[in-house]
Amino acid sequence: MAELNSDPATIRSLYELNRECSADIPERGSFYTLDEFVDQRVNTVSYDPQGVVIALDDTEWVGMAATSDWSRNGYVFNEMTGVKSSHRCRGIAVAMKVLGIAFADECQVTKVRTFHHPLNASAIGLNRKLGYADADFSHP
Ligand SMILES: CC(C)(COP(=O)(O)OP(=O)(O)OC[C@H]1O[C@@H](n2cnc3c(N)ncnc32)[C@H](O)[C@@H]1OP(=O)(O)O)[C@@H](O)C(=O)NCCC(=O)NCCS
Repeated sequence: MAELNSDPATIRSLYELNRECSADIPERGSFYTLDEFVDQRVNTVSYDPQGVVIALDDTEWVGMAATSDWSRNGYVFNEMTGVKSSHRCRGIAVAMKVLGIAFADECQVTKVRTFHHPLNASAIGLNRKLGYADADFSHP
């Protein structure tokens, strides 16, 4: 996202991709409005466009992996990872999350944290493949 203009059209593309992919998260419920998304996901102290990876198929936005900067607390945090259903099972999420792990280096921390719904088999499989281990913590 840091390589793109942070203009309203770009933020809307991120929002629409996030909304589409979030529909497949178990019990996700209704998604933010655009204004809520901007307030709660973009205009926050932990949002860093360097940590938001977009996967493109030509010009189509097909995947996103957002990692936020909580380095003041000693870690970065994987927010939403999503790939359009048409492009799943091709390793796109792994590729994006590896770049998210590199973002931890940029933030000079060695921990990456995330959480997932206990029934979200694809997210759990993805995180296990990347070496994430279970932990008991509360994310602020
Ligand atoms: C989770 C998600 C991002 C995975 O994207 P993807 O690009 O298809 O994932 P990859 O192709 O990189 O798969 C990587 C690994 O994830 C796991 N995985 C992916 N899909 C899976 C599924 N349906 N069931 C179990 N494990 C799965 C596997 O371990 C896979 O490795 P493998 O191919 O060697 O078996 C995608 O399914 C998605 O957008 N889901 C809806 C949104 C969501 O739930 N996001 C996570 C919560 S933030």
